[in-house]
Amino acid sequence: MNYLKGRGLSGDVAKRFGIGFAPDAWDGLIQTLGVNDAALRDLLTAGLVVENDNNRRYDRFRDRIMFPILDRRGRVVAFGGRVIDKGEPKYLNSPETPVFHKRRELYGLYQVARSQTNVERILVVEGYMDVVALGQFSVNNAVASLGTATTTEQLEMLFKTAPEVVFCYDGDAAGRRAAWRALETALPLIRDGRQAGFLFVPDGHDPDSLVREKGSSAFTDRQAIKPLSEFLLDELAAKTNMQSIDGRARFVDLTKPMVAKIPMGSFRQLLIQRISELADLDARTFSSSFGVKRPGTRAVARPRGRKAPSLVEKALKPLLFDPKLALAVKNRGLLSQLSNENANFLFEIIEFINTQPDITTGALLEHYRDSPFRDLLDRQVETPLVLDREAHSLEFQQAIDALLRKSEPSALQRAQAEKQRRANEATKSQE
Ligand code: UTP
Ligand code: MN
Repeated sequence: MNYLKGRGLSGDVAKRFGIGFAPDAWDGLIQTLGVNDAALRDLLTAGLVVENDNNRRYDRFRDRIMFPILDRRGRVVAFGGRVIDKGEPKYLNSPETPVFHKRRELYGLYQVARSQTNVERILVVEGYMDVVALGQFSVNNAVASLGTATTTEQLEMLFKTAPEVVFCYDGDAAGRRAAWRALETALPLIRDGRQAGFLFVPDGHDPDSLVREKGSSAFTDRQAIKPLSEFLLDELAAKTNMQSIDGRARFVDLTKPMVAKIPMGSFRQLLIQRISELADLDARTFSSSFGVKRPGTRAVARPRGRKAPSLVEKALKPLLFDPKLALAVKNRGLLSQLSNENANFLFEIIEFINTQPDITTGALLEHYRDSPFRDLLDRQVETPLVLDREAHSLEFQQAIDALLRKSEPSALQRAQAEKQRRANEATKSQE
């Protein structure tokens, strides 16, 4: 009791968590509970009594502060035992038993569920003492995983209790690695209505010491929480140079396997949008460039043939069937100034064909096989071009002209000004 009081715990909290003590004796529990063979066998099965090589039996927990671990229904299924002050190991835990699987239990979850009817958010911390100390400061929504990284089973249990799960870790390198592992476990479970985040504890602190120094607000303020999406994007962006095209392309590559883990839904959609913004990509193109092409998905998302093709598509389709059309494009420089991502791509193809005037449709498609715009291209060649040569040439030209007019009138004006300037210069040099 003196030790616990010294660590700032009140009797109330000690009682709420059922904290106790195993006296310093080899057979305290055996003497008290091992009254017959059947009872002794139960103590062995429960991991409370240990048998050594010489068939000698003794209590597992001796001279330790005892933290009972409750299952979801409030039944004691295991214990953690802490030495008083110094000693090794600091914590001794129950072994795996028929009723205890540490990957499937969470310390404190029963108390969280019982303390409030609608739990909005659960904090996942590392230590028994963190859970208890937070409780001392009325932060009654903390649980601890039991000396392992948080497992999928544990996360599922948490999301059944609350829509938001926040992982508390040290802000140091080890803590961030642990956070990344948690993130990878969480991604497949983020369905609509579920949310995850991180709360990084400053260097030299754990939740126990932080709550004592800063009070409960350090764990209740929304601002303290870094949304999972932000942590994900920050970590990946930190690995590349987001100022360069090459760096942003690498960034997009790094995000793909992560996004692929996330179930379909608004979180995934919004994350894709954000990635596209950061990388300066068109979101629709990006999203179609991985993982989303399950059979049937496309037909549902975009009924074929019903949505009117965009101007870019109107130009792209004849161009793909007849690449030589690119050679006749005037004002190519203007096209490069369009702000639309797909239009930029159209410009890129036109430029490319001008460097290889004899390229065929097949070779073109092959060239862009790994491009994020591959889907856009594939869609154009899915159905044949019905127009004759003259008609499709006209359609192509009209689409290009419309693009120039519509998207960037100022570019046209700039071009005219430039033409004027050249003309002026020409007249000058003739003088
Ligand atoms: P910590 O060393 O951070 O302990 O281990 P703590 O909970 O903050 O306890 P105090 O403040 O030192 O009293 C975090 C968790 O890792 C597991 C326990 O679950 C512990 O709560 N652990 C740690 C062990 O299982 N065994 C150990 O020897 C140490
Ligand atoms: Mn601690």
